[in-house]
Amino acid sequence: MKISVYIATSLDGFIARENGDLDWLPDADGESQQTAEDYGYRHFIETIDMLVMGRNTFEKVLSFGQWPYGERRCVVLTSRDSMIPEKMAAHILVRNAQPDELIKELDEMGVQHIWLDGGKTIQQFLCEGFVDEMIITRVPVLIGAGIPLFGHIMDDINLRHIETVSFKSGFVQSRYAVARKPQAKRNS
Ligand SMILES: NC(=O)c1ccc[n+]([C@@H]2O[C@H](COP(=O)([O-])OP(=O)(O)OC[C@H]3O[C@@H](n4cnc5c(N)ncnc54)[C@H](OP(=O)(O)O)[C@@H]3O)[C@@H](O)[C@H]2O)c1
Repeated sequence: MKISVYIATSLDGFIARENGDLDWLPDADGESQQTAEDYGYRHFIETIDMLVMGRNTFEKVLSFGQWPYGERRCVVLTSRDSMIPEKMAAHILVRNAQPDELIKELDEMGVQHIWLDGGKTIQQFLCEGFVDEMIITRVPVLIGAGIPLFGHIMDDINLRHIETVSFKSGFVQSRYAVARKPQAKRNS
């Protein structure tokens, strides 16, 4: 099973403003649908058979009005009671689980490629050594404060740079491979 992060950050490393706003992110208002450039999104999403996201990200995506992932399977991580709209319940699972427990369950379900989303969620899986790949698109804007992509870690995490591409828009996308910790390898 492969676990990927595909995410956009401001140049100063934030994935959203402190209140969760994505107004600094041109794609957030659907601009990408009007332009040919999708920053590799369509190719990436075609390889994904499960999304795993934190509750904050789920609530933000729901607030867009239209769920962009169709009937693709999704896990929402939360310690709260289920808040999934009934019409989406068939393809969305709610879990309150540590990364290793969740990965074990998804592995047993035969999941091949996970898109992991949400700042706190990504940080947690990274710390536990459960991320294989990170595709980070840096938007040329400084927003000064917000929700960070990265946070405190106990040990250094070494990445291998695979490639960096730049776009006319000024977006710069880098792909990194992340070495899994030995224990994370054993469990999935
Ligand atoms: N720029 C981008 O491309 C991009 C992409 C994704 C998200 N975002 C933005 O980032 C913001 C959300 O990120 P975030 O860091 O605030 O949070 P997040 O990771 O989306 O959600 C964090 C929440 O997920 C739940 N959670 C995480 N791990 C869990 C576990 N192992 N077990 C149970 N529950 C768990 C907890 O919810 P409970 O409190 O319910 O327990 C936690 O408070 C949103 O504003 C979103 O729009 C931006």
